[in-house]
Amino acid sequence: MKALILSGGKGTRLRPITHTSAKQLVPIANKPILFYALEAMAEAKIQEVGIVVGDTKQEIRGAVGDGAQWGLDVTYIEQEAPLGLAHAVKIAGPFLGNDPFVMYLGDNLVKDGIRSLVEEFERLGANSQILLARVRDPQRFGVAELQDGRVISLEEKPTHPKSDLALVGVYMFDHTIFGAVNAIQPSHRGELEITDAIQYLIDHGYRVHPHVISGWWKDTGKLEDMLEANRIMLEAITPRVDGDVDGASHVIGKVVIEEGASVTASTIRGPVVIGKRCRIINSYIGPFTSIYHDTLVCNSEIEHSIILDQCRITDIGGRLEDSLIGKNVEVFRSGEKPKAYRLMLGDSSQVGLV
Ligand code: DAU
Repeated sequence: MKALILSGGKGTRLRPITHTSAKQLVPIANKPILFYALEAMAEAKIQEVGIVVGDTKQEIRGAVGDGAQWGLDVTYIEQEAPLGLAHAVKIAGPFLGNDPFVMYLGDNLVKDGIRSLVEEFERLGANSQILLARVRDPQRFGVAELQDGRVISLEEKPTHPKSDLALVGVYMFDHTIFGAVNAIQPSHRGELEITDAIQYLIDHGYRVHPHVISGWWKDTGKLEDMLEANRIMLEAITPRVDGDVDGASHVIGKVVIEEGASVTASTIRGPVVIGKRCRIINSYIGPFTSIYHDTLVCNSEIEHSIILDQCRITDIGGRLEDSLIGKNVEVFRSGEKPKAYRLMLGDSSQVGLV
């Protein structure tokens, strides 16, 4: 069994973060999303992993390397443009050969891992296994229609979904998928859709086994989903203080303070993760916040947010909430006159003023 992790694509819904960075590397509870997928592969005893990369290939390579950190053997597969999930399978042909494989979308998080699902697929001997989850907004996903426990149709982001069963971004295939990805045509949005390829398998009498999952799963494509994923993953952390906390500070609940970080005259109310070499001074960091490495927070309050590395958040007066702040961002209050908001924002930024 091999694995194919998809880490190309555009990430349009997470701009401006994804103007400069890969969405699969945004940290959730201070761990890049993609690393959860790599851990899931190691746990499922899959060693050979192909990662499909696009424009952000340097960044992904820089973070993952050869995969040895997880005991994996990683091969990079370059996709010239995000031409669809089935296109990614097509170009991965030489890497995958005739082996069965798991395809895992690099922006998806499946909390309970995939080991038992891979074992089920191997036991069943089906040509494909798809994972489905009941969702409130099926029009955002690929949607499956089942009859007597069998998949009869799949539709990508339908306006009028036939069910509330969304396709989770983890799929299992044997070599028959190559016949399908070579036979289908691009959809109206110009992509080779994996849903069309699976429909092809169904229409040609191949066995596609649906497994409805009950555990927590998230496609982290949007800000609210990122914050929810962060919340769920932070709830599962094991508290640990490897940095310094001074006597005037209060650390309450599940909190991780990583090596080299310092907390001075502040209150940290977990679940919270504070990254390496961060400095938190005279501030309040509230539940469901993760702060990545080398960030300074001074005279400020933050709750329910994800802050990336090398930021400076100082003297903001109010409280930052429900926010995703990219790398190397400064948020501060200035005493300059005239009193005004002075902003330098990247394309597609969002600012909520009070
Ligand atoms: O998250 C589950 C959903 O994922 C499924 O329900 C849909 O059926 C499936 O099409 C997919 O929909 P998305 O619109 O969320 O896919 P997205 O374009 O965000 O791509 C998913 C991942 O694959 C993301 O990490 C980027 C990567 N990708 C995407 C494309 C289109 C590639 O590496 N290459 C590509 O060509």
